[in-house]
Amino acid sequence: MKANPGGQIDLNAVIGREGIIQILWETVEQQSLVITAERRIGKTTVIKKMRHEPVAGWVPVFQDLERCHSAAEFAMAVYKEIHQFLSQKGKVTRRAKEFFTAMGGVEVGGLFKLPEKAGTQWKDVLTRAVEDLIHENDVSGTKLLFLWDEMPFMLANIRDREGEQTAMEVLDLLRALRQTHGGLRMVITGSIGLHHILSSLKEKNYGNSPVNDMAAIDVPPLDQSDAIKLAGLLVEGETLPSPDLEAAADAIAREADCFPFYIHHIVKALKIRGLDATPENVAQVVASQLVDANDPWELLHYRERIPIYYREDQKAVFLILDELASRTGTATVNELLAMLKGASAFDDRERLLRLLSLMERDHYLKRDEDGRYRFRFPLICRWWTINRGL
Ligand SMILES: Nc1ncnc2c1ncn2[C@@H]1O[C@H](COP(=O)(O)OP(=O)(O)OP(=O)(O)O)[C@@H](O)[C@H]1O
Ligand SMILES: [Mg+2]
Repeated sequence: MKANPGGQIDLNAVIGREGIIQILWETVEQQSLVITAERRIGKTTVIKKMRHEPVAGWVPVFQDLERCHSAAEFAMAVYKEIHQFLSQKGKVTRRAKEFFTAMGGVEVGGLFKLPEKAGTQWKDVLTRAVEDLIHENDVSGTKLLFLWDEMPFMLANIRDREGEQTAMEVLDLLRALRQTHGGLRMVITGSIGLHHILSSLKEKNYGNSPVNDMAAIDVPPLDQSDAIKLAGLLVEGETLPSPDLEAAADAIAREADCFPFYIHHIVKALKIRGLDATPENVAQVVASQLVDANDPWELLHYRERIPIYYREDQKAVFLILDELASRTGTATVNELLAMLKGASAFDDRERLLRLLSLMERDHYLKRDEDGRYRFRFPLICRWWTINRGL
């Protein structure tokens, strides 16, 4: 197996993930779900594997919504999938088609397009297409499962192009459709946390909780044994000489915090530098990648997104992360509050609690059973220390 950090990987190059995928399938039987997880952890890979290896009763369809820039484009993309699904069963999307045609919509080369001035008609097409899906599909038949990657990114696109109102309407309509049609299932994920889009909409007085009927499931890094297996397969695939493959694979998995993306990167870097796979070379490669100005591991976003996500609280967030990184240990809420009071004008315990829970949702922090905070990923703590010159 060749190292391919960030690229499209073959299904047979996907290691592990059986456990989380089983949980996802079991959950889908009951409700729709949102996959939350840190960037580059392997979310897209997980849902692509679901698409290729569906369990009985489901026909999953994978849609990368990054391509949709308007609510109408989204509605048309969903309509198209429903149309294909039903056509394969010899059924038709009668309700949606009638409305779509009456609206002056056209189908060109398998793509559906509404006329420019269609306003909010996308809602009717989407609603009718879902009605067709639910009503035309017999109870015993296979069910369509939407796997929607980059949904938050699409919502941000819609918000920026068509306004907050339209982005909210997309979320509200999807929720209403889930409520009306018990059998409708969608899996939503993406590289930006959905909660950030929701909080930007809340600032525009959007008070709804449009995903509180969906299960939230976190994709963790690989299990340690799978991370070691992936590292070993990549070292072999790249034909790197290794006096002790087991020790090398172990070191790669450990240094990468079991993130498959970083495992690919380490092996690629060993290959490019012509180094043998040994624990010493692995440590050397990681140390240099963490300080590399080109940021091959795409870690800078952990720092750069803070001003955007946390705005007026950004200073407090930097201080908290600096404190936890330089302590290389844990801290209680009171200790963090005392530190913030000493270093800034921050003096609000409730606000700190809210901030800490957001930082947990953004995967910076983890809370112990006894309530002490620390960095969630040791690797990120290490990078933060280097990057911030602590
Ligand atoms: N199970 C796996 N086995 C082997 N390699 C993997 C696995 N999961 C992820 N990878 C590697 O990590 C890279 C990133 O994975 P993926 O694109 O699925 O992450 P993501 O969480 O969807 O990222 P983003 O947050 O940018 O959307 C892949 O290109 C591949 O190199
Ligand atoms: Mg992805």
